[in-house]
Amino acid sequence: MNSEQTQVAIIGGGPSGLLLGQLLHTVGIDNIVVERQTKAHVLGRIRAGVLERGLISLLEQAAVAERAHAEGDPHDGVVLGFNNQHTRISFSDHIDKPVVVYGQTEVTRDLYEARDKCQGRTHFSVEDVIIKGLDSDRPELTFSINGAEHLIACDYVAGCDGFHGVSRHTIPADIRQEYEKVYPFGWLGILSETPPIHDELIYANSDNGFALCSMRNSNLSRYYVQCSTDDNTEQWSDDRFWHQLQQSVPQDFLCNLQTGPSIEKSIAPLRSFVCEPMQWQRLFLCGDAAHIVPPTGAKGLNTAASDVHYLFNALKDFYQSNNTTSLDHYSQHALARVWKAERFSWWMTQLLHQFPEHTTFDKRMQHAEFELLQTQVEAQANLAVNYVGLPY
Ligand code: APR
Ligand code: PHB
Repeated sequence: MNSEQTQVAIIGGGPSGLLLGQLLHTVGIDNIVVERQTKAHVLGRIRAGVLERGLISLLEQAAVAERAHAEGDPHDGVVLGFNNQHTRISFSDHIDKPVVVYGQTEVTRDLYEARDKCQGRTHFSVEDVIIKGLDSDRPELTFSINGAEHLIACDYVAGCDGFHGVSRHTIPADIRQEYEKVYPFGWLGILSETPPIHDELIYANSDNGFALCSMRNSNLSRYYVQCSTDDNTEQWSDDRFWHQLQQSVPQDFLCNLQTGPSIEKSIAPLRSFVCEPMQWQRLFLCGDAAHIVPPTGAKGLNTAASDVHYLFNALKDFYQSNNTTSLDHYSQHALARVWKAERFSWWMTQLLHQFPEHTTFDKRMQHAEFELLQTQVEAQANLAVNYVGLPY
């Protein structure tokens, strides 16, 4: 049995686990990350690409923000399309907090490079992680790697293992309260090595469905169209994708659309999900392990970041001042912001998609909401302050 000791054992080497690990390192709190996949697999994931100011600040605090500042693209607004109408929502007209377009994959890459540079302990390809002794002051993780048994003894466990991880299920079922909404559609996304159609994101709803025009850089575009939950990527040729996109994006922008072969194509289901509480004894959940949002509000990574902010500061209070007040209230603090992100993501999804069960009245409600956003400054401000990110 390979035995190790640490202060904080982190399950999951995605953005949540890595960001927590780097922040802990900056204040000398020892931690070990255990990750089910290989590093290459984790870095091969294509995810969203809009960073709130709060996440950028955390990357700065973790000394991992250099590339995001050099290569990230500040955005000061988004375009909303509704059939062939469109309106721009400015951020700076309402709040001085631009967002930064920078791929989550790059954030993860930067975090791994920083972890390797500071020789942070990380185990990849771990199997059968079991969390033990949460009711003691020295909980343990057991797991195996290539058949060899491992044990990590720690003070606290951070469950950063995503929606399909083991941490959430370690909270007893009679303690856990789960809230879920599954949407009757998915997003089909592609990457194409083409210039973006526009210099800001375009979220569009039309009778043909939702579409999103985003980007990674000046020659790498990210597009999404609404698809059926039954679809698979084999049913979506590039031609079918580009045709669907052009049916949904306001015509005014199509003259700038440069199509090209997809270099990545994937389908994601949409769900809203929250687990309460986000802590149990010496286990603390962060990110997708505790909550999921539909990507319409670009809140997945950014809400994981606010969880990490609360947990990092609570652990720092304990190790530096022997004060457990913030740890005792972590779930309450994190959930207060999680639910606001859930609301905004649900609201953006309701506004921008074609729902099979929608009546003509429902469609009129969507149009009325869009007209409010076109004409009412308070409606525009509400979208802006939520999109750029509410304060921690
Ligand atoms: N043991 C170890 N690692 C695990 C286990 C396990 N039992 N189960 C899952 N993992 C790993 C996964 O392989 C993944 O790398 O935990 C990591 C969780 O990472 P994410 O799913 O990316 O979740 P998180 O770090 O919270 O980041 C949230 O990622 O999925 C997006 O939309 C989401 O943008 C959001 C962000
Ligand atoms: C992306 O660029 O992948 C992206 C941007 C905004 C979203 C979702 C995804 O709301």
